[in-house]
Amino acid sequence: MAKTTSPKPKSKGNAAESVRTLISRTEIQRRVAEMAGDIRRDFPTEPLHLVGVLKGSVFFLTDLARQIDLDASIEGKTVIVVEDILDTGMTLQYLLRIFEQRKPRRIRVAVLLDKPERRIAKVRADYVGFKIPNEFVVGYGLDYAERYRNLADVGVLTLGAKEKKS
Ligand code: IMP
Ligand code: MG
Repeated sequence: MAKTTSPKPKSKGNAAESVRTLISRTEIQRRVAEMAGDIRRDFPTEPLHLVGVLKGSVFFLTDLARQIDLDASIEGKTVIVVEDILDTGMTLQYLLRIFEQRKPRRIRVAVLLDKPERRIAKVRADYVGFKIPNEFVVGYGLDYAERYRNLADVGVLTLGAKEKKS
């Protein structure tokens, strides 16, 4: 799974900052198609509302939605919350509480990435793309200070010495 890419100096110009590919674009696309298949199997006839948590989930959301092939009518009561990464779980715990107040028929959670080691809140995802170790990742929508979202692969970010100190 791991492959080293050459450091990509970005806007801040810190040459020591680098991204090491953790999950390739091909692996992501294959897994997203599988997840879409799982969701479609679980809800073969029902219209689904996909709700993406911005901004990180934007590529994952669109790829997943394309594969699930949403009905023209998205008037429905099954909600799938689509999130880029489940980390401490605080964000999803908060969002799920808000969604539940709106009394949907049911809510499911789809995350591209899961970092189980970091969990604080008691939240679990129904659909998980990849479990990853406790590393800071970027790409495929995930950012570091708004950078790296546009990378097609997901990679582990290593900060330069200058940024680590501050
Ligand atoms: P949680 O509330 O700790 O589960 O955090 C979830 C949010 O933190 C995600 O939606 C991301 O925006 C952000 N996040 C957590 N881990 C990472 C990471 O490794 N890279 C980029 N963003 C992350
Ligand atoms: Mg987020």
